[in-house]
Amino acid sequence: MSSESFLPSQQLGLILIGLCLLSLVETYGFRKCTQYELNIHHVFCIRKKITNLTDAIGDIPRYTTHLNLTQNQIQVLPPHSFANLSNLVDLRLEWNFIWKIGEGAFKGLGNLTFLNLVENKIESVTNSFEGLSNLETLLLSHNRITYIHKTAFVPLVKLKHLSLSRNFITNFSNVLEAVQHLPCLEYLDLTNNSIISLDHNPRSLVSLTHLSLQGNKLMELNFSALSLPNLTTLDVSQNRHQVIQNVDLETLPQLRNLNLSGTLVKLEMLLAKYLQNLRKMDISNLELRGNHLNLNTVCHLLRNLPILEALVFQKNVIDAGNIKHLANCTRLLSLDLSQNSDLVHLNDSEFVAMPSLQSLHLNKCQLSFVSNKTWSSLQNLTSLYLSHNKFKSFPDFAFSPLKSLQSLFLSRNPITHLNNMAFKGLYLLKELNLAGCWIVMIDSSSFVHFTNLESLDLGVNNIRTLKHRPFRFLKKLKILILSRNRLEVIENSAFFGLTYLYYLDLTYNSLSGFHADLFLGLENLEVLNLSYNKISYETTRTLPFPPFNNLKSLKQLNLEGQKQGIQVVPTNFFQGLSGLQELFLGKNSRVFLDHLQFDPLVNLTKLDISGTKAGDRSLYLNTSLFQKLKRLKMLRLENNNLESLTPGMFSGLESLQVFSLRFNNLKVINQSLLENLKSLMYFDVYGNKLQCNCDNMWFKNWSTNTADVHIPYLRSYPCQQPNTQSLLIDFDDTMCNFDLGKVYFFCSFSLVLTTMVFSWFSAKIISSLWYGLYIFRAWYLAKWHRTEKEFIYDAFVSFTATDEQWVYEELVPALEDGGQPKFKLCLHHRDFEPGMDIFENIQNAIDTSRKTLCVVSNHYLHSEWCRLEVQLASIKMFYEHEDVIILIFLEEIPNYKLSSYHRLRKLVNRQTFITWPDNVHERPLFWARIRNALGNRTMEKDNAQLIVVE
Ligand SMILES: *[C@@H]1O[C@H](CO)[C@@H](O)[C@H](O)[C@H]1NC(C)=O
Ligand SMILES: *[C@@H]1O[C@H](CO)[C@@H](O)[C@H](O)[C@H]1NC(C)=O
Ligand SMILES: *[C@@H]1O[C@H](CO)[C@@H](O)[C@H](O)[C@H]1NC(C)=O
Ligand SMILES: *[C@@H]1O[C@H](CO)[C@@H](O)[C@H](O)[C@H]1NC(C)=O
Ligand SMILES: *[C@@H]1O[C@H](CO)[C@@H](O)[C@H](O)[C@H]1NC(C)=O
Repeated sequence: MSSESFLPSQQLGLILIGLCLLSLVETYGFRKCTQYELNIHHVFCIRKKITNLTDAIGDIPRYTTHLNLTQNQIQVLPPHSFANLSNLVDLRLEWNFIWKIGEGAFKGLGNLTFLNLVENKIESVTNSFEGLSNLETLLLSHNRITYIHKTAFVPLVKLKHLSLSRNFITNFSNVLEAVQHLPCLEYLDLTNNSIISLDHNPRSLVSLTHLSLQGNKLMELNFSALSLPNLTTLDVSQNRHQVIQNVDLETLPQLRNLNLSGTLVKLEMLLAKYLQNLRKMDISNLELRGNHLNLNTVCHLLRNLPILEALVFQKNVIDAGNIKHLANCTRLLSLDLSQNSDLVHLNDSEFVAMPSLQSLHLNKCQLSFVSNKTWSSLQNLTSLYLSHNKFKSFPDFAFSPLKSLQSLFLSRNPITHLNNMAFKGLYLLKELNLAGCWIVMIDSSSFVHFTNLESLDLGVNNIRTLKHRPFRFLKKLKILILSRNRLEVIENSAFFGLTYLYYLDLTYNSLSGFHADLFLGLENLEVLNLSYNKISYETTRTLPFPPFNNLKSLKQLNLEGQKQGIQVVPTNFFQGLSGLQELFLGKNSRVFLDHLQFDPLVNLTKLDISGTKAGDRSLYLNTSLFQKLKRLKMLRLENNNLESLTPGMFSGLESLQVFSLRFNNLKVINQSLLENLKSLMYFDVYGNKLQCNCDNMWFKNWSTNTADVHIPYLRSYPCQQPNTQSLLIDFDDTMCNFDLGKVYFFCSFSLVLTTMVFSWFSAKIISSLWYGLYIFRAWYLAKWHRTEKEFIYDAFVSFTATDEQWVYEELVPALEDGGQPKFKLCLHHRDFEPGMDIFENIQNAIDTSRKTLCVVSNHYLHSEWCRLEVQLASIKMFYEHEDVIILIFLEEIPNYKLSSYHRLRKLVNRQTFITWPDNVHERPLFWARIRNALGNRTMEKDNAQLIVVE
């Protein structure tokens, strides 16, 4: 009874020593920040409503290298803000309200290489970057910058990458003036500003390789004054302010990629002689106002670009005939004709003049037909993109000429049926994407011609069943995606033949169970995702065919988010998964795991049962559940509304490093919870209801003294009592060091006394004497004359006449007849000896039953007999240290009515609750829990506990 609350004097001594050291040791948990669970050098202070930066980062250690302050409300960076964090390498301040950066704000950050100030309210860039002599990346996108001081970037001698996109910059000269001091600058991003003209003062940016002026308002492309000898990539797309006539790219001799997409440039003005190094050009969406696109002009340009390899030519309203024209004037390796809405039929060898083509994009056209001649000359094509078109099917041999094809994308087409003859001859195909089509059925012949396929995406279709070994020809397949179909049934050995499959995605289907040998043959499967299906079990009963038994190589298994909750996990469900490393069971509304389920998982390193939101009512984890998980490193039980955890439950987890109980309803953390966790480095109890009382004294002292275990946000934990603003770490526990043994002895003694006195007075006058006498006798016998009794019944059922119907129609059939093991119940109308005194009968029934099952309702609380039954049973429980009482709550009972039972509940502060559920789907779990509570025939003394089932 409450044994975990006793503190042996040895520990008290240690705590006292700890208290003395308190002032010397740094708390290993901060107020607004937390270290990253796998690397103490990374600190996150995300979404903490931080306004005062100095304050927020004041307590984080100097060795921090990465600091993430995203999504706060910081307005000002004061001078020397990071003076104590001289080891910072990476600093993220995006998504704040920063408008002012104090002079020398970053001083001392000599090792910083990355600084992110995206999405703030900076209007001008002044001399704020002093000291950042190793900075390589500076992101200032999405601010309100209009002005940059000439010398602002002078200290940034190592800067390579500067982004100023999405600001209000109009003056390009101003930018150049500032960046010309950057000897290493390679990337300059000015996307989405309001620059109208280029600079005409002679300038040179020798190191620059990438320049983006996308989405500005340029009226000219005359770079003649700007020498960019090493520029390889120029993006001037989406400048659609007016038609550009003035183009000069002579000063960009190394230009390889030019993007003019959507820019109103006259192509005649592009002089090919200055573009002799061009490899890739994007001239999409050139709807020149008034003029129709003149393919002759395009061809003229292309003819004079001999080494051009890739052309992007989207949204240009060309038809099948135009393609031939285009094909005739260049020798491309890659052509992108996506979003050309006039392309409907391709059946006339359109690409005959492009035998060198390796990659062809025809996404989002209106294509509905191709013939077996369409691709006849594309012998070298390796990738073909036909997504988002109108194909319903393909004629025989449609793709057969594509002898070199490796990737084929057919997603988002209204294909209902796969004609396997269309794909005959695709011997080299490795990747096939059929996601988002209308496929209803696949069968054993569907994939007969894909003998070398490695990746097959069939997600988002309408497939209901898998039968007849549909994948048996895919001997080399590694990745198979079947998510978001309507799979209800997967027949035996449906995956037969997939010997090399490594990844199988079955998420978002309607699978509810597994046939025997379903996964037979998947010898190399490492990742299996079954989340968001309808897998549910009603009893822990051993399955005749454990579903994963054949998956010898499985490393990761995901069973999250089953429709009704996975409910009662069968005992041998995970049998065979001795190599499993990661298991995800969260987001299930009901999970019941009683003993042995995890025993096969000896190599598990990561276990996540988070987000059940179920509370103690629907998430049940047995004490012995985790004992075999000797290699477990990471355990997450977040967001579960857990109110209590059984002591010792985690004591086998000797390798556990990261343990998160974030967002539950725990009030107390005691030492026994963390016993034997030798490897613990990170213990997260943020967002619980920890109270500042003596029960938490151990946690308070341990957490503020431990130098090995990081406790996220420890210094911000509030006391969860009404009317207090104080913090857990400030809780004054001196009064707790009182002789606890005596206190507890006195308390338990007075409790018994109160129990008796209360019973005495609360009983009606006539029966009170007898009542009291029986209570006294029970207490006396229990305390002084403990005898070994033979049990006749598994449980004595205590209930009132009003609940009789429920007992006989639900309880008795479920426990005595339904399922294994069968229990023997003692019911007064049925099993009491006639003629014997009723008190004697009750005492006998309790003594000869292993447990007492109290069926609690409002009527029950008003019944004197029931009250007596509870009292007698609780006396037995109190002295025999056995969890003999199981409370079933049939209806919601207001707290005040429970007052006399409240004391019972207080005796043990780790109750378990579930309601008799109105919802029929929840009942299997309810019964499983009752059965489990009744089933512990041998109870160790230490584990004695009161089980309250609401
Ligand atoms: C931030 O907090 C520090 C002390 O923690 C204080 O000295 C400073 O004035 C505060 N700054 C602002 C802007 O409130
Ligand atoms: C910083 O935090 C934001 C917000 O959670 C996240 O998106 C981002 O990836 C983080 N950055 C790093 C480097 O961890
Ligand atoms: C930068 O890091 C190195 C180690 O990588 C360290 O020796 C040096 O002192 C640091 N510089 C600063 C200014 O902190
Ligand atoms: C850029 O090109 C010039 C020649 O124009 C060359 O001397 C220099 O090393 C190059 N700089 C970089 C950073 O590549
Ligand atoms: C292709 O170009 C040749 C000359 O280079 C010309 O004779 C032929 O008609 C062109 N074909 C098409 C379809 O434009």
